[in-house]
Amino acid sequence: MSDTKMPDTLLEVDGIETCYGLSQVLFGLSLSIRSGEMVALMGRNGMGKTTTIRSIMGMTPARAGKIRFGGQEVRALPSYKIAKLGIGLVPEGRQIFPNLTVRENLVAASGNRLGSPDPWTIEKIHALFPRLAERGSNMGVTLSGGEQQMLAIGRALMTNPKLLILDEATEGLAPLIREEIWNCLSMLKAQGQSVLVIDKNVGNLSRIADRHYIIERGRAVWSGTSAQLIAEPDLQHRYLGI
Ligand SMILES: Nc1ncnc2c1ncn2[C@@H]1O[C@H](COP(=O)(O)OP(=O)(O)OP(=O)(O)O)[C@@H](O)[C@H]1O
Ligand SMILES: [Mg+2]
Repeated sequence: MSDTKMPDTLLEVDGIETCYGLSQVLFGLSLSIRSGEMVALMGRNGMGKTTTIRSIMGMTPARAGKIRFGGQEVRALPSYKIAKLGIGLVPEGRQIFPNLTVRENLVAASGNRLGSPDPWTIEKIHALFPRLAERGSNMGVTLSGGEQQMLAIGRALMTNPKLLILDEATEGLAPLIREEIWNCLSMLKAQGQSVLVIDKNVGNLSRIADRHYIIERGRAVWSGTSAQLIAEPDLQHRYLGI
């Protein structure tokens, strides 16, 4: 039995092909995430990481292959339905609502559709990121990049997702803020949150994530555990330019 067929598989992406118009970007990409796992997606610029996320979310639907979430085929579903099944996205560029306050951004997203026994509340988000409590009545547009990222994470958590996806978790943020985001991810993982994370910081990813996929020109060319990743430094050189 292959690991992707394990009963606790939360997300299974199987041989997807995705195009932007005539330009094909994903060529039979496969990956899987089990419940409670933190999985990292790595690869150089333009290799197809964001497109993989967009395909999973139905924002740029894959034209071939299978995407199963919680055992249900979702490849042909519209984005909002996929999100409702329990995927919370922290997108590239954050995309918080600029004309809503921090608090309104959080409330707008809140929901416990899947009946989590211990749902996220504004208070819990404030405990995770105290800065958001201080900025509660400020408009989204006034936030710093780091505050926006905290808000984007808080907003995604307020949907009580089974799977949290972060595209560029710490890209472009100040070192102290990055540290705060990594701490937050460690904490979420310790609580059993399933996470798919994209970031360029291999050191932090190998410290926190359970498994990794390296994407090269629209294919997953390597996958393994953190120990395996660390044990093969030439992988990082070959595929990540480190
Ligand atoms: N909207 C689009 N239309 C056409 N081509 C696109 C579009 N978005 C991305 N691409 C192309 O698809 C390929 C994969 O892009 P993608 O954004 O998935 O890469 P990425 O791995 O997320 O890169 P980065 O690390 O820079 O975020 C690139 O060649 C990119 O130019
Ligand atoms: Mg990207």
